Amino acid sequence: MKYYITTPIYYPNSSPHIGTAYTTIAADAMARLRRMKGDDVYFLTGTDENAQKIVRTAENAGVDPHTYVDGIVKRFRELWELLQISNDDFIRTTEDRHAKVVQYIFNRLYEQGDIYKSEYEGWYCTPCETFWTENKLVDGKCPNPDCGREVELLKEESYFFKMSKYQDRLLKHIHENPDFIQPLSRRNEMIKFIEGGLEDLCVSRTTFNWGIKVPFDPKHVVYVWLDALINYISALGYPDGENYQKYWPAEVHLMGKDIVRFHSIIWPITLMALDVPLPEKVFGHGWFLNREGGKISKSRGNVQDSFELIRRYGPDPIRYFLLREMQFGMDGTYSEDDLVERLNSDLANDLGNFVSRTLAMIVKYNQGKVPVPGTDTILEKELKELSLLVKNGTEAKMLDCDPAGALEFVWQYVSRCNKYVDETAPWTLAKDPANKERLDTVLYTFVEAIRILGILCAPFMPGVPEKLKPLLGTEGLFNDWEQAARWNIIQPGTVIQKGDPIFPRIDISVYTGEESKESAGQEKQKTESKEGKQIMQEGAKDISKEMVPLKEEITIDEFGKMDLRVVKVLRAEKVEKADKLLRLEVEMGNEIRTIVSGIAQHYAPDDLVGKKVILVANLKPAKLRGIESQGMILAASHNGELEVLSVSKDIPTGAQVK
Ligand code: MSP
Repeated sequence: MKYYITTPIYYPNSSPHIGTAYTTIAADAMARLRRMKGDDVYFLTGTDENAQKIVRTAENAGVDPHTYVDGIVKRFRELWELLQISNDDFIRTTEDRHAKVVQYIFNRLYEQGDIYKSEYEGWYCTPCETFWTENKLVDGKCPNPDCGREVELLKEESYFFKMSKYQDRLLKHIHENPDFIQPLSRRNEMIKFIEGGLEDLCVSRTTFNWGIKVPFDPKHVVYVWLDALINYISALGYPDGENYQKYWPAEVHLMGKDIVRFHSIIWPITLMALDVPLPEKVFGHGWFLNREGGKISKSRGNVQDSFELIRRYGPDPIRYFLLREMQFGMDGTYSEDDLVERLNSDLANDLGNFVSRTLAMIVKYNQGKVPVPGTDTILEKELKELSLLVKNGTEAKMLDCDPAGALEFVWQYVSRCNKYVDETAPWTLAKDPANKERLDTVLYTFVEAIRILGILCAPFMPGVPEKLKPLLGTEGLFNDWEQAARWNIIQPGTVIQKGDPIFPRIDISVYTGEESKESAGQEKQKTESKEGKQIMQEGAKDISKEMVPLKEEITIDEFGKMDLRVVKVLRAEKVEKADKLLRLEVEMGNEIRTIVSGIAQHYAPDDLVGKKVILVANLKPAKLRGIESQGMILAASHNGELEVLSVSKDIPTGAQVK
């Protein structure tokens, strides 16, 4: 099967950062997995260089735009190389191969009457490179909630693209293809936006001359978004290139939620006008925010040097952290502390330790040679069955553009493997020669589990197989995805190496001079749990009758699976014929969710409106009285009293509760 995946082409107005890296790493992981499955993959990324903001930035830097973008594009290429991005092509919109196609398309649309000349009078936001009509502005500024910056008044002769002509066809396509725009929240936003009516789009500028010239009227340059979107086919050699025939339409255009609108309106309409099939999926993931809830972005100046981060931690931990932190359909939070915590717990402790301790046991108990396994017990059978489940689950999540969900599957396997070590206790088996066959089976299973983990990690952290190869002493073990569910691959007798830890623990204080949050956290946890137990025991005396028995102990990682968010209640109403239920509409960042909550006997709907409450945001949606509840709000209850947990400080909606 062929698989064509793209990232947005990035503006080279400043060096790439963690946010831009996320989309590219996620696309890379998807591309790698498909290659491992034997698919014919084409993975495209590149740079969007004909923007007005590039001219401005270059002017400010006192260099000509060409020299400026050449310098930044070099940084993009370097970063992608360091992060082991496996793109098949890198397109720059200043290349001739691209300009030719843009001009061909502009000409064609003009000749068939879809582009016409008129005059544009309205507003333009240069940071967003977007035209706005007066009535859309908010307080006279850019209405994009992430922008809000000054707009400029334009009055110039322009060419217009008849978007309105294609509105109904586009809506029909979206309705008939439920997977076309994802996730669902983005799809709903887009449908609403299109239903609001599409205006013809201004597609040329005359007030500067940086860009691709309109072929038949060279005082105009093509509007940067029309120019940029065309990269997805110009890179393939549209209209008659071999790659175009082979790979178009794209299976996935991956991007941040900020630019889904351009990809689900301007792009499909352009393709419709050209009679070209539409891409299968436009997927908009969330943003990386900093701990204060602000978007990580170059224009906000809150980005950390990605090159320095890679130097400190290596590419795999950065890839892992970013992929793991962006929960499906939500924003993710980025901080270096959290990165180090993940590195130490998931990579050094869980994965790294499993590899080190099991290989050390093979060295110790079998002179470093892979033994011949004996008969499987239920424990080995379970591990084998789980590998199939995890392989399929990981694959399915990646098909849904959900790398975090996929990694959860993989880490389920890592945990199970660690548990297997404790359950089988080879150190005890080794004490009695009568257990030799059992010990050999266990040691053999270890090596196979390491091999499987190497395969499962490969799309996300391509460095893991590289690190494992010398340890397992066999080449070519990690390239085939299907082998993650097959067993007895490694030959008994193979000599293994103990090697160095594949992910050494990191002490962040080396970089920040501050006490490591993790070690401080561990200390605190110890004392807290002692004190906590005491408090529980004392408290239990008072409320013993009402007290629900304490649940089984969980680890901090298990708790971390819960995604708790601050949300604001926008609307609340009773659910018909259900005297306990309220239907709430809550705002979580840019998203609106519907929640059905069993609190109607404790709150009148109006009492809740405007309240900021806590939502379990990653709870599987469930239908209650025919209404899909997309999460659950938290409340404390005791002796028939109930109070919804709320925050009183000015914390923005969407902020995480940890
Ligand atoms: N040039 C346009 C895209 C044209 S595509 C035909 C553009 N470029 S951009 O440099 O601003 O990059 C936007 C993309 O970078 C986002 O859609 C997203 O993929 C990624 N991100 C930038 N900042 C981000 C975060 N803070 N978090 C996650 N992704 C972010 O728009």
